[in-house]
Amino acid sequence: MPPREIVTLPNEILRRKARDVDDFGPELQTLIDDMIETMRVAPGVGLAAPQVDVPLRVIVVEFGREDDPEAPKKLYTVVNPEIRRASSEEVEGLEGCLSIPELVGEVDRSVAVTVTGQNRHGQPLKIKAKDWLARIFQHEVDHVNGVLFVDRATRVFVPEPEEFSEHQGTEV
Ligand code: NI
Repeated sequence: MPPREIVTLPNEILRRKARDVDDFGPELQTLIDDMIETMRVAPGVGLAAPQVDVPLRVIVVEFGREDDPEAPKKLYTVVNPEIRRASSEEVEGLEGCLSIPELVGEVDRSVAVTVTGQNRHGQPLKIKAKDWLARIFQHEVDHVNGVLFVDRATRVFVPEPEEFSEHQGTEV
């Protein structure tokens, strides 16, 4: 059992803009630890605090390399995340969301982004991401703004069983 329950549509918290974090105390540390474990158990590659019913601007992302599934994954925790720069070049990709089970959508996203924010201790953070990692960050920052992939998708559909199993574990 994951430490926190993942809320799903139509829960209204998914539609609200989350609040800035200014207290980096024990409660935030517990939230972040719980989010990381919940993401791993789901399994997923990203999670935003509103998805565990907490209206704060916190995201976690854990992702390896697309071209090498054996490569170690990298864990990112970003508090008060913002997409600071986004490439005008976009690419279409298939997205799912732990809060919208059984649906996927084709979404155009910037190929590369720069994410700024703070780490779990409040120190400034800047991450340059491209390709899938850039997509995951755009999806998670949308979450803390109350935006879901279905709002941006050019097509939303129920995947075929084999497509779905291929997609499992890539939700965000
Ligand atoms: Ni999501």
